[in-house]
Amino acid sequence: MTWSYLPAIRRILASLAIPSLMFSPVAFAGQTAQRAETQEHFVAPNPAELAGDTAEEVYAGLMKTMADAYRLSDKVHAKTYQAWERYNSSPYRSATHGQRFVNNYANKTAKAYSRYEAAGQLPVGSALAKDSFTVTNSGGINPGPLFLMEKMAPGFNSESGDWRYTMIMPDGSFYGETNGEGSKQVEFCISCHRAAAKNDHLFFIPKTYRRSF
Ligand code: HEC
Repeated sequence: MTWSYLPAIRRILASLAIPSLMFSPVAFAGQTAQRAETQEHFVAPNPAELAGDTAEEVYAGLMKTMADAYRLSDKVHAKTYQAWERYNSSPYRSATHGQRFVNNYANKTAKAYSRYEAAGQLPVGSALAKDSFTVTNSGGINPGPLFLMEKMAPGFNSESGDWRYTMIMPDGSFYGETNGEGSKQVEFCISCHRAAAKNDHLFFIPKTYRRSF
């Protein structure tokens, strides 16, 4: 990742009380938050380097399992996001989402996402989904959380740029959402994404992984 937000993100990461479970290595293998919170590391140990096509193959094998689990959360976007447009060419490792491999999807209302830094403010009803999984050098493959952003009506939350952040655990349990249940637990999403306030709080996809349309 070479783009200009990196120093700001590093500072934010260092200063935030980020829930360890988001960044913990095997947090989601055991599926219990309590176990996750006992983890000390912020990132997956020995995260594997995978070529794009290999990452894509791993993901293809996991997609249905992930969809079935996220669906249990009963959140509408968690049930439908895999039918949306996907904007990354293959899963890539996200340093800011626990070194997990991630994908970025956007619904129809958010189609301006395809213009990346030129997208401007996305309209109310825009929804973005980032699913995730881990692969370690020892061959461990585990689904990770689902990260959602949804553009709400003006006035919803000025700190978040009126985005509602939601995090769903890999087993489909609900972790928290802005202005709703578990709101405090997802405040760290707002804190980091605010570094991109000039782009409507969006960071987009590292350039080499952007699909061209
Ligand atoms: C420390 C910084 C940081 C934190 C904390 C963070 N994000 Fe992100 N987020 C990013 C970056 C950087 C990207 C784009 C690149 C990537 O995927 O790594 C991104 C991308 C996204 C996207 C795709 C839309 C976009 O910006 O292009 C969604 C959806 C998302 N994050 C949701 C969340 C949610 C939900 C949380 C909290 C549970 C969260 N993020 C916490 C930095 C962060």
